[in-house]
Amino acid sequence: MIGRLNHVAIAVKDLAAASALYRDALGAKVSLPMALPAHGVTVVFVELANTKIELLQPLGANSPIANFVAKNPDGAIHHLCYEVEDILAARERLQQNGARVLGDGEPKIGAHGKPVLFLNPKDFAGTLIELEQR
Ligand code: CO
Repeated sequence: MIGRLNHVAIAVKDLAAASALYRDALGAKVSLPMALPAHGVTVVFVELANTKIELLQPLGANSPIANFVAKNPDGAIHHLCYEVEDILAARERLQQNGARVLGDGEPKIGAHGKPVLFLNPKDFAGTLIELEQR
């Protein structure tokens, strides 16, 4: 059911410093920061040949990644995003398999303008999974 790895998200305290690492030390193509107030994050996209890295920094008082960054002050991998053809069909299959969708269970529009869902990491080997419709 899942297709390509769309991105790996890394949550950081200092987005400018993380961007500089990817741009200058690793020599990657790095976007300008984009604030996504609805998601409580500011994001930078790192374009790789076969996938993307998203650098996330908490935005606002109620950021969903604030606690994660507080617990991981050096930064840490936050989630993996897999592409699916049909997000509602994917949700149906996952729920039939006992997996829990986070939040109200309804797809939201993600950082790339496409519907996304997040799955409970306790159901997936300790990894927060984002599904994004292609
Ligand atoms: Co993501």
